[in-house]
Order: sequence, then C-alpha cells, then structure tokens
Amino acid sequence: MRRLWLTTEEYASRRGVSDAYVRRLAGAGQIPGAEKRGGQWLIPVLEPGPEETAMKTVAVFNQAGGVGKTTLTLNLGYHLARRGLKVLLVDLDPQATLTAFLGLAPSDLEATVYDALLRRENLPIHKNLAGMDLVPSNILLAGAEQELVSALNREGRLRKALDEVRAAYDVALIDCPPSLGLLAVLGLAAADHVVVPVQTHFKAYLGTDQLLRTVDGVRQELNPDLEVVGFVPMQYARGTQHDRDVLEALTAQLTERGPVLTPVPQAADFKKATVEAKPLALFNPRHPAVLVFEEMADRVMDTLYGSREGVRS
Ligand SMILES: Nc1ncnc2c1ncn2[C@@H]1O[C@H](COP(=O)(O)OP(=O)(O)OP(=O)(O)O)[C@@H](O)[C@H]1O
Ligand SMILES: [Mg+2]
Repeated sequence: MRRLWLTTEEYASRRGVSDAYVRRLAGAGQIPGAEKRGGQWLIPVLEPGPEETAMKTVAVFNQAGGVGKTTLTLNLGYHLARRGLKVLLVDLDPQATLTAFLGLAPSDLEATVYDALLRRENLPIHKNLAGMDLVPSNILLAGAEQELVSALNREGRLRKALDEVRAAYDVALIDCPPSLGLLAVLGLAAADHVVVPVQTHFKAYLGTDQLLRTVDGVRQELNPDLEVVGFVPMQYARGTQHDRDVLEALTAQLTERGPVLTPVPQAADFKKATVEAKPLALFNPRHPAVLVFEEMADRVMDTLYGSREGVRS
C-alpha cells in the first residue's frame, strides 16, 4: 500500500468536483487526514502497490434485515473502484436487491450465482456496472439452501467458485442475505474479511450479541482467518439524542471486536440514487455522505493491504 499526498486540485479532479469545494471542505475539517503545509492543503490517499494483486474477499454481513448491507456493498465497491481497484460484487441474496440496484432485471437473467453454486458452472459476470463487475442473483437462489443440504463441501462452494476469478480482481465484495442460513455461511466462509453494517437503533443494540456469536461461530468452525474490518453505523441521525446514545452504547459493546467506523448519515438521497441505479457519488457527488464512503474506502484498503486496523480475536 502506498500513501500519496494530493493537492486539493488533484484531489478535486479525481473526485469530479471543484477545487474550491475541496478547499472549503478541508478548511471545515471534513476531509480526514488532510494537512495544511506551506499554505496549501494536502490530502492523503491510499493506493495499492504493484505487488499487492491477490484478490481480497470481503463479506458484508448482518443477519438483521434492512440495515444497509446492500447500500454499503454498492457504495463501498464504487469508492474502491474509483481508487483504481478492479472490483467484483457478488449478490448472494435471493431478494436480488444489489442486482436491481445496479439496473438489471433479476427475473430476466439466464444465469446467476445459483448456477455457479449448484451446477458448478462458471460465475456469470456482468461487466462495468458503475465501474464494477457483478455476479447477479435472483429468486431461484431461495431454493439453494434446501438443495445444498446434502451436498459435499457445501460451505466451500462460493470460495471455490471465486477461485477461478482470483487473478482478474483486486477485491470481491459479497452482499449477504439477512439470515443465519446456509447462504450467509457460504458468504462468510468465502471471505477473508467482514464488514458489518449496524443501525443506531435500540433493536440493533439488542441484536448485537447474536451477531457477534454468529461471526465467532463461523470463525471457529469454518474460517479462523476471518477478520473484522469494522462495524459501520448506517442511517445515523446525528440530530437525535436516541441515535447518539445508541451509537455510544454500540461503540462500547463492539470496539473490542473491531473498529467502529465513521457513521453513514441517514439521507433520502440513498433511496433516490438506487432508483437511478447509481451509487450516491454518481447521483449527488456533493452529498456529505460521499466523503464518509471515501474515508471508509481508505480505511478498508488500509486493512486489506496493510493489516493494521483489523482485529482478530
Ligand atoms: N444511510 C441511509 N440513509 C437513508 N436510507 C438508507 C441508508 N442506507 C440504506 N438506506 C435505505 O434503507 C433501505 C434498506 O437498505 P439496504 O437494502 O441496503 O439494506 P439491507 O441490509 O441490504 O436489506 P436486506 O436485509 O433486505 O438485504 C433501502 O431502501 C436503502 O435505500
Ligand atoms: Mg440487502
């Protein structure tokens, strides 16, 4: 991993925004790590070095529904791709939300991740959707858990399927379904790292023990190398006391298992962006949450390539 320092002008041109806007954000302390040197702002960015080419696999997991897994997968993937990484997204959810968020019609697809898992066919890959590639899903995948019950090496099926594309990608992000079933286990067993979106609601706080037990169980039984990149509070409403209190409680509960990353604010633009099949940064480049994803991408790259931040327990 190399750390490069960019001027505000260079940074602005990479992000497709104006230099004045970047300088204003830097002045307001909104660009993580930015430093003023010799009267001008310098902004740190991380890029993989030429030697770091083995594909890293990251599962985005939480067994609770609607916490923001798919939104996180799409937007984090986009920001990693924008840093020059070759990104493969894997939709492992029969609801096929990620597939739909990227503009495909799930029910029209001839081949999905199902065919790779059940029939051992090649992974069907749709190229260059918002700069990323996608292995799509559809409702047929709902039958996979039943059909795999007696299959040999069923937990390893996705890892094996990904082996054939390891040379072609820098990172694969797996969007897990909201369950503790076999599909989620396949996703976690295929991953080296896990990112866990959490909501700053009391219900999420109550569910955290179960969540940690699941991750621990997978580590013990299947994948001892699974590393928690971080917990990402999603749909955070900074203006409400409830969210601030729950964030504090969650942070106290989670920190020893993995870092709690900067919260992604609640914003109506996330929903609007998905209607246009876009990551937030393409729908509204000036939205403050875009910077949160920029910082998250830096952090994730740091963990994947530098292995400094991730916590293994
Ligand atoms: N930060 C946010 N602000 C506002 N809305 C958000 C935010 N993040 C996600 N959403 C919205 O919340 C809904 C659920 O998000 P998403 O589909 O990403 O969750 P999920 O965990 O993948 O759900 P599932 O468990 O069903 O797979 C979506 O409509 C999404 O647009
Ligand atoms: Mg989802």
